[in-house]
Amino acid sequence: MKIDIVTIFPEFFGVLDVSLLGRARQSGLIDVDVHNLRDFTHDRHRTVDDTPYGGGAGMVMRPEPWGEALDSVVVESSVVIFPSPAGEVFTQATARQLALEPRLVFGCGRYEGIDQRVIDSTRSRARVREISLGDYVLNGGEVAVMAMIEAVGRLVPGVIGNAASLDEESHEGGLLEYPSYTKPARWRDLDVPPVLLSGNHGAIAAWRLEQQLERTRRVRPDLLS
Ligand code: ADE
Repeated sequence: MKIDIVTIFPEFFGVLDVSLLGRARQSGLIDVDVHNLRDFTHDRHRTVDDTPYGGGAGMVMRPEPWGEALDSVVVESSVVIFPSPAGEVFTQATARQLALEPRLVFGCGRYEGIDQRVIDSTRSRARVREISLGDYVLNGGEVAVMAMIEAVGRLVPGVIGNAASLDEESHEGGLLEYPSYTKPARWRDLDVPPVLLSGNHGAIAAWRLEQQLERTRRVRPDLLS
């Protein structure tokens, strides 16, 4: 998978070099290029924003540098993602869809957003999605993109060694994950649930499913409807 990120804060994405995704990049499963939007400006101050037409608070990102930056990375097969609190909400289903794509482009807006014509004109040559991480407002798209890349990247075949571990997680079966325990069997007067030490695989599976249902009912009843 090829991922291009356009941002005015390339340094945000240094952490993609570490951990699981770092290994995926080294092994060539995921190729990430980060592009500085200011490299596509032509004025002395490398200006990327201006006041909004119609008035209002804050600044809007000008279309010209975005146009040039996207021209340099978007191809017909790209899915172009603009993180925005006004977008569709990102879910595990979104991550699964994006993990099947050969090329993703992320355009990180800052301030009050990007001139809408950038998004509209990109739609005429590639698939475009405006995606929100959730119902809250971040200062810009960078952190949202980091979360999306982590959620998508780990679903790319080969990135996670044990693919079975993906099947049992929260949100994959529509239920939250069951609680996990490891050694020691007793810690600070707290015992691991005895069924997990019983060796009875049927009883363990039944207990785990009950825990999933109880947790989901209590914390996220919306997932059961
Ligand atoms: N940019 C600002 N807030 C955001 C959010 N909630 N999701 C995605 N991008 C954003």
